[in-house]
Amino acid sequence: MRQDVRGVHPDLARAGELLRERGLDGEVRLFAEIESTNDEAKRAAKEGAAHGTVFIAESQTKGRGRQGRTWVSPPGENLLFSVLLRLACAPARLPPLALVCGLAVRDAIARAVPAAEPKVKWPNDVLVGGRKISGVLVEATLSGSRVDAVVVGIGINVYTRTFPDELADRATSVALEAARHGAPPPDRAAILADVVAGLDRDVAHVAARGLGLVHARLTAADALVGARVAFEAGTGIARGIDLDGRLLVETDDGTKVRVAAGEVVPT
Ligand code: BTN
Repeated sequence: MRQDVRGVHPDLARAGELLRERGLDGEVRLFAEIESTNDEAKRAAKEGAAHGTVFIAESQTKGRGRQGRTWVSPPGENLLFSVLLRLACAPARLPPLALVCGLAVRDAIARAVPAAEPKVKWPNDVLVGGRKISGVLVEATLSGSRVDAVVVGIGINVYTRTFPDELADRATSVALEAARHGAPPPDRAAILADVVAGLDRDVAHVAARGLGLVHARLTAADALVGARVAFEAGTGIARGIDLDGRLLVETDDGTKVRVAAGEVVPT
């Protein structure tokens, strides 16, 4: 295991030890500062890094979110990591995989603060009380027509207690939710280990067989079901997620639309 722990706080530097205690023996690469853990994971994938390698940073200078957005996080406060998955599956499995990654993050946050009742907002944000607590950026490389490597990049607001004005009423953190619900202060390494354990449990199965076995858990965690939403082509009521990972929306004229990509916002 490569571990340069200089510049990485001891609570986070424990992550590798905790993963091994749980029988998760992927290599852990720790960085005090890096451009983006997703970019690092993709670079390492090209060089042959193994399934399960975890890239963790205290700080990113070019953190990326979905839809070309940036992901900004004050150094040392949160979780910024990517997990490299070597999954040889059809590209059609990528939307289900992205959803199950969001579910793994949701479950880890629920374990830290059960009363917060985190939910997955399609496709893979995690919300608490309608506020974003985590975002997931899934990127894949193909070999021919098959997926070769999947990089699951995860940002979780853990210790941040004050957000910039533009995010203040749209974001929350595990520490804020723990304080609100009287739960113990969060432990970054434990949350990370729970996420990786969740991925380890579910991704190979979903890559091979699709969402079937996790669909009921996903439905129970769906932040949008029953909500009025706006999507690229219109507005309607969210009616759940199908087995291909698409969001079902019943539009105002009663038509059922399956949304495969893009941004969906509650209205
Ligand atoms: C989103 O909500 O738009 C997804 C945000 C994903 C951010 C994480 S932080 C670790 C990893 N490295 C990146 O550059 N992005 C992801």
